[in-house]
Amino acid sequence: MITPEPGGYDRAAVRRVYDDMAAGYAVRFGSELSGPDSDTEFLDAALARLPAGPVLDVGCGPAQVSRYLIARGRAAIGLDLSRAMLAQAARLVPAARLIAADLAELPVRRASCAAAVASYSLHHLPRALLPAVLAGLRDVLAPGGVLVVITHGGDGEERLAQFDRRVLLSTYPADRLAGLLASCGLAPELVTSRPPRPDEYPADKIRVSARRSAGTGETAGFAEYQRPGPGFDDPGPGRSRELARASDQEHGR
Ligand SMILES: C[S@@+](CC[C@H](N)C(=O)[O-])C[C@H]1O[C@@H](n2cnc3c(N)ncnc32)[C@H](O)[C@@H]1O
Repeated sequence: MITPEPGGYDRAAVRRVYDDMAAGYAVRFGSELSGPDSDTEFLDAALARLPAGPVLDVGCGPAQVSRYLIARGRAAIGLDLSRAMLAQAARLVPAARLIAADLAELPVRRASCAAAVASYSLHHLPRALLPAVLAGLRDVLAPGGVLVVITHGGDGEERLAQFDRRVLLSTYPADRLAGLLASCGLAPELVTSRPPRPDEYPADKIRVSARRSAGTGETAGFAEYQRPGPGFDDPGPGRSRELARASDQEHGR
């Protein structure tokens, strides 16, 4: 059994929440990034120049980012803690490779990815954990690779009452997030925000991209799928063994 970790991070609770809401979340947000809007404009600009390699869709949920990438000719690897979300991703984006894993313990070879996109997947981490997680994401980038973080703007860390106060919501001002990326050796490139849409959490959405220096990193190559560690059920790359349950629980966006 996974127990809550220091700093109040209860990853088992996060996983349960997303297992329970996966089907409903896929209905609400699964078709995002299918047509041009301010989010695709941002991603188009942030990911315009990339080295070779796949792009990691970090906390992929129903894999909207993977589908967006595949439509533009990129190989995408969706990674998520929630098996039920991965089941939705496998159904909606069959061309994505999928990994059941924790974004804080990436089972991906160092310097192997052209980019990593964390779209609304870092906000349940305690703020104190974010620098280490960003450093882990930096390490999987090939030289010249890009890390994109899209998350809720704000400046705090609260326990969400609707999830029995077991799940955190951490928010950041855009410039602080850009500063954290710079502190782990990435050069911030784009920092933008947009107002929330009616069905989103009512905070500005902030979007930051930052690039790893072309002169750093280790041997580039395709990110190998690796078995996740204990505590994960592994649906296998690009597959899932079960369909998600329907749920009407409130979403984390
Ligand atoms: C709000 S959803 C975002 C899904 C999708 N990326 C999007 O933009 O809509 C958050 C996703 O991050 C996943 N997630 C949260 N914490 C995670 C962790 N520590 N490791 C891997 N995935 C995580 C959840 O399971 C969920 O699928």
